[in-house]
Formats: sequence, structure tokens, C-alpha cells
Amino acid sequence: MKVEFYGHVRQYHNLKSEIDRNIQTVLESGQYVMGPMLKKFEAELAAYHGAQFAIGTGNGTDSIWLALMALGIGPGDEVITHPNTFFATAEAIWIAGATAVFVDCCPKTKCIDPEKIEAAITSKTKAIIPVHLYGQCADMPAIRKIADRHKLRVIEDNAQGIGASGAGFKIGQLSDAISTSFIIQKNLGTFGDSGALMTNNAEIDAKVRKLRNHGSNARNVHSFGFNSRLDDLHAGILSAKLKHIDALNDQRRKWAARYTAGLKDCKSFDLPVELPGYRHVFHLYAIETRKNEWRDRLVDFLVQNNIDAKTHYSIAIHQQAGYPWGKGARIVGSLANAEANAARCVSLPMFPELTADEVDYVIAKVKEWDAHHAGK
Ligand SMILES: Cc1ncc(COP(=O)(O)O)c(C=O)c1O
Repeated sequence: MKVEFYGHVRQYHNLKSEIDRNIQTVLESGQYVMGPMLKKFEAELAAYHGAQFAIGTGNGTDSIWLALMALGIGPGDEVITHPNTFFATAEAIWIAGATAVFVDCCPKTKCIDPEKIEAAITSKTKAIIPVHLYGQCADMPAIRKIADRHKLRVIEDNAQGIGASGAGFKIGQLSDAISTSFIIQKNLGTFGDSGALMTNNAEIDAKVRKLRNHGSNARNVHSFGFNSRLDDLHAGILSAKLKHIDALNDQRRKWAARYTAGLKDCKSFDLPVELPGYRHVFHLYAIETRKNEWRDRLVDFLVQNNIDAKTHYSIAIHQQAGYPWGKGARIVGSLANAEANAARCVSLPMFPELTADEVDYVIAKVKEWDAHHAGK
């Protein structure tokens, strides 16, 4: 048996008629950029998030820095996040010209640890960017309280958690804006790049809407801006898939529960933790080996057995070669949990279209590996 890491083509086959119909609608419309399909998808996306506005962008990275820019955050300002996220979270802060301030993650969830945030706040701090890492919400109520105390903005980097929710809170309810990515492998992914920003703040909406389109919202009328638009073909694909996102996430949750039940007695690694009352949407099912040196051995063993395992993200941002490349960066306190996460993370295949046989084969092989490492 061979188990792939991604199921993009399976998902395309399952939703083919709906996706193809939307692609054809766009092709026949003759309007491919800033056309009616984008408008329709933006309305659907805003409604899905219970937000007033959704703005399609070129990608998830742009969504973050466009939001920062719309909030007037740039050179001389500091933005707090954590270093065990995809590189783009910090990259977006640097693109905006601000200083990235790194604090540690929570050892359980791997999301930013709210208890570490306050020590990092200075007179220059302007925003916090929590990441809903792997598909589980960060502790937004705690983050919101800190932001209110210090008058900070909060942008949720929700590239990985569309459809997730917390205990008594929804994504977007406790922040200024939600950024997301629709790159291929995301829970809601297209066949290429694109992203979006959701907000209830009319000023952020108006600014980002212009900034993404050469500083223009009327033909021939411009101010300084960029080209970062979500084109209509991708909007059509995403519109077709959005209708299924809750069912697709439920399917991920089902496979996650099967992994957890199958692997719960293993002793050489820790399993992902879903906090009580939270809806984790398992963008990734990431386990952590109990020893650093076991991570690559487990990945190699799985790959040798035709299971495509990966690591997310095996080099923390502050440990990348050349960091911080002349950009503004500050580390506050120990980053031991984030560094351990980077050193020990192994992602098992996770996508809605997996089969029970594939999941059971992965469980069997991981258990076989565990039997040789548990207690050592
Ligand atoms: C947490 C996180 N933030 C930001 C991004 C950037 O999104 P994009 O690749 O669409 O620029 C990604 C994914 O790629 C991500 O996983």
C-alpha cells in the first residue's frame, strides 16, 4: 500500500461536476479578474465567517501584510507572534516593514502562549498575530484581554483553521481581521495560490480592497498600492468547495479520531491535543517524538514503507540560516517549546479523502516503529 500526504486529485474527482461548472461559468463570462465570480465568492466567504467583509487576495501572506498596512503598522512598530509557524507569518510582518517579536508557544497546543505575550509588549508594540496552528484555535479570549489592556490590534492567521472554533468563541469574533490562505493543500484549497482577509472593520476593508488593486476602486483612479487579487477562476473553484468545507473538515476529524484511538498507547511520541469545547479541523495531524533524534528516523521509516510523512515545521523561524536577514526581530524569553516542536514534529497523512485502510496502514506502521522505540 502507498499512502500519499495530499488528496488534491481525489477531492477534484469527488467535486468535479461542481468545480467544472464554475470554471466554465467564469470562462464563458469573459471576466477573469475582479469579475462577478470573485464578488460572489467574497459574499459567500464573508457569510461563512459571519463577517461583514471578505476581500480576496493573491495569497495568505499578502492578506497578513495588507492588513498590517491598512492598520498603519510598519517601520518602527513591533508585532508579536511565535516562531513555530509557517515562515510566512513572520515574513508578512517584515514585508510590512515592522519588527517581528517572537514568544514561545503553548507546549500542549503549539499555538502562541498568551502567558508569554505581556512580557514582550513595549511602547512600540502594535499588534499580535496568533496562528491557529495545525487547525486548532489559539486561546483568543486570553489574547483579546491582553490586546484590550494594551490597546493592540489582533490579526488571526487562519491559513490552517478555516471552520475551526474555540470554546465559546468563533474565529473573527475577538480580532480585527482574519487572514487566510487557499493554497492547494489548505482545508479550503484551490489549484494554485490565493487568499483572503475577513473583517468587520469598514476602514480595513476599504483600505485593503484598494491596496490589493493598484490603489484603485474606480477605473483610472489610483493611489499607491499593489497587485494582489484573487482571480475569478480560483474564486469559482473555491466557491464550489466552500459548500463542502464543514463536511470535509468533519471527515478530517474522523480520521484524526481514528489515528488517536489507534495510537493512544504508544510511548515514543505525543499525540495532538484537542482542547475541551474546541473544534480542531486537523489541517495537519502532527505528533511529536519524545526525543529530537527520533523525528527523522520516524519520517524515514514511514517513507520507506510508502507512507508520505512530512514535518511542519522542522526549522523554527529564528533558527533558519541567516536569521533575521537584516530585518527587525526580537526574541523574548525562552523559545524552548517552539524549538522542541520544530525538532520533534512529524505530520501523518491527513486529508478528507483518505480511506480507512490507508489510515489503518499508517497506524500499523507507526505502532511497529513505536514498538522498537518505546521505553528507550
Ligand atoms: C500559518 C500560515 N500562514 C501563512 C501562510 C501563507 O499563505 P500563502 O502560502 O497563501 O501565502 C500559510 C500557508 O502557506 C500558513 O500555513
